[in-house]
Amino acid sequence: MKIIRTKNSDEMSRKAANIFFSKLISKPSAVLGLATGGTVVGLYKNLIESCKNGDLDFSEVKTVNLDEYVGIGSENGQSYRYYMDNNLFNQVNIKRENTYLPNGLAGDISAECARYNELIESLGGIDIQLLGLGLNGHIGFNEPADAFASVVHAVDLDESTIEANARFFADKNDVPKKAITMGIQNIMRAKKIVLCVSGKQKSKILNEVLFGDITPRVPGSVLQLHRNVIVVADEDALEG
Ligand code: F6R
Repeated sequence: MKIIRTKNSDEMSRKAANIFFSKLISKPSAVLGLATGGTVVGLYKNLIESCKNGDLDFSEVKTVNLDEYVGIGSENGQSYRYYMDNNLFNQVNIKRENTYLPNGLAGDISAECARYNELIESLGGIDIQLLGLGLNGHIGFNEPADAFASVVHAVDLDESTIEANARFFADKNDVPKKAITMGIQNIMRAKKIVLCVSGKQKSKILNEVLFGDITPRVPGSVLQLHRNVIVVADEDALEG
C-alpha cells in the first residue's frame, strides 16, 4: 500500500482527484468505481472544476457505484443515485447511460444483485475504485462479519452505520436498514484502488485497516492484499 499523507481534507481531495485526473488523461474511456459519503465530496468538486476548465473530458467515461440503499429511489434526496447526480454527474459531460448504480427499488433484490454483478463484469474491469472508510471499517457496505462476502449482495446495515449515516437524514428512523453493495471480490478486482480517509474519528479504524490483522471483522483490512492501493489520508486520520 502506498500512503499519501495530507495536511487536511482539502489537500486529500486534491491529491486523490489528481490520481483520477491522470487516469482519465491516459485512458479517456476509463471505468471508474465510485463511492458516496462525506469524505469524497471534495474530490468530486475538484473533478468538476477540471471538467469545467476543459482539462477533463467525461464523454467516454463509465462509472459504477459501490452501493445503494434498498427501498428508496432516484427521486429521494438520500438515495445514492441522487447524491451522484448532484455531486458529480449533472456537472460534468458524462453520458447518463454510462453511469450505473444498483436499483434500490427493484422488486426482486437478489435478481438485482445478480444483474449488477454481471454488469460490473461486462464493463471489463474497474480501472480505479474509489473508497471511503466506515467508522466500523466497512468498505462499500461490506459490514464487519464472520466471512468476506465476495460479490454483489444485499446487506443489513450495522447499527453503527445507521447511526453514522443518520446525519444525512431528518430522523435516524428514516435511514434505510438494507443496502445493495459490491462485494469484496468486486472491489479487489479493480486495477487500482484509492482509499480516502479524513478526520480524527477515523484514526483508530484506519490504523487497524493499514496495520492490523486481515479479518472480515475489519473489512477494509483486506486491502492489504491488493497490489495497487493508494491511501490518501489527512494527518488527523493518520495520527488521531
Ligand atoms: C459509500 C460507501 C461507504 C462510505 C463510508 C464513509 O458509497 O460505500 O463505505 O464510503 O461509509 O462515509 P463518509 O465519507 O460519509 O464517512
